[in-house]
Order: sequence, then C-alpha cells, then structure tokens
Amino acid sequence: MFFKLPRRAALAAAAVATAASLAGVLTGTAQAAPQPIVGGSTTTTTAYPYVMQITDASQNQFCGGTLVSPTKVVTAAHCMVGETTSSVRVVGGRTYLNGTNGTVSRVSKIWINPSYSDATNGDDVAVLTLSTSMPYTTLPYVSSSETGVYAAGTTARILGWGTTRSGGSSSNQLRTATVPTVSDSSCSSSYGSDYIASDMVCAGYPEGGVDTCQGDSGGPLIINGKLAGITSWGNGCALAGYPGVYTRLTTFSSLVSAQVNS
Ligand code: ARG
Repeated sequence: MFFKLPRRAALAAAAVATAASLAGVLTGTAQAAPQPIVGGSTTTTTAYPYVMQITDASQNQFCGGTLVSPTKVVTAAHCMVGETTSSVRVVGGRTYLNGTNGTVSRVSKIWINPSYSDATNGDDVAVLTLSTSMPYTTLPYVSSSETGVYAAGTTARILGWGTTRSGGSSSNQLRTATVPTVSDSSCSSSYGSDYIASDMVCAGYPEGGVDTCQGDSGGPLIINGKLAGITSWGNGCALAGYPGVYTRLTTFSSLVSAQVNS
C-alpha cells in the first residue's frame, strides 16, 4: 500500500539484491524461505483474545485492531479511510479468516485522528466504537508518559492475519512473532524524512526476515504487556534494512483515551 519511495525503493531493492546474492556467494548457503506473519508462528484468539479482525460487511478481513475496552477498538487511520459505520464490522474470538465463530459487532462510530493524511505523515490512529460489547479480555495501552517502552532492542510482539510475504496471500490462521524495537536514528537512516520519530516507532531485525505485512495493518505492537504501537507501513515486508513502522502510541494516548472514555 505504501510505496511512496519510488526512486529510493528501486535503488534499495537493487542494493538488497546485490547484498543478498553477495552473501549467498560468500557463504555458499541458500537464503531461508520467508515464513508467515512474515517469520512468525500460528496462534489463536484464545491466546490473544484482544486481537480483532476488522472486516467489511461480508466479514472479509482487511485490517487488525485491538480491543482496549469492551466497546472500543484501536486500529490504524489508514485502515478506515473511505469506510463508514455501515461498511465495517469487528470480529472477535475468531482465529481463522474462514471461521464463522466468535462475536461480530457493527460499528456505531469511527473516529479517525483528524490530523491524519497518509501513514508516512504520521498520525495513523483510529478508534472504533462497537455496537455490541465484546466478551473478551482487553489489552491496556500505554500512557503518554511511558515513552521508555520504545528503548532500542526492546522485544515487541506483532500479530495479524496479513500476508506471509510481500505480494503473497493472507494467513488463514492468526500469526504472531517478536521483533526488537529499532532506534530513531537507525530508522531515519532507513526511511529518511518519511520516518517521523514523534509519531512512529520501528521494529525489526537488521537482517529482516520477521515483519508485519499487508493485511496486518491496524493490529497491535505489544511491549511489556501493553499496546504500544499500531501496524502502519514499511518498504516491502521483512527486507533487510527496512524494519516495520508502527504508530508510536504514547504520542496519541490522550487522544485515544478521550475516545475510549467517551
Ligand atoms: N500498510 C500495510 C497494511 O495496510 C502494513 C504494512 C506493514 N509493512 C511492514 N513492512 N511492516 O496492512
């Protein structure tokens, strides 16, 4: 969805290909095949009950979300662009995309951060108000003062039904993985002025291989048992040198609380 780096991305892709083939030549080893979320393992909504599918009216999943109160779901603003309260459903307790179980709720209100314009400009947060309460455990979210959670190298958990490689197909089963947070300076080196440290945080391994991907957007980045980020954007998926970019939730915690408590 976000290939706003045309020239740089083309150069980067060439550089990655060169580095990869060089590594292959030097070590004589084949590159490991990417695995789903990219690089994760299957899990269930029993293990992560606050992870919601955001679907269209036909219950086709297109984004993720996090249940932070029985009737409030935090997701990405870019997931809600063009959506209306009648076009969206939230599905809880459904591990499989092709399942019919769990709880389906309509949405009575879509709040999109009014400052949002594009994921690479930041402000990528939205809060949905559900018509039906979800009977699932909620996940607390970070307060505005908890900025220490993003210290470089902190382990963060990602979850979603997104594609298991860039351009691939979605995972029928919920997947999860852990990735280390990345420093602002390192992420700025990757993404230049598209990385806005006040609004975003990066997570991923320098060598890539584990990442969120298309369809994971809106879902949680969990640090120390709290919702600390929202899957937002990246250059490709799981590429070396290009970590995933997540909404820095501490920046938007007060805005989210205003919606959650409304
Ligand atoms: N924008 C994507 C979506 O809408 C999420 C991409 C995340 N990319 C990444 N490399 N971590 O689902």
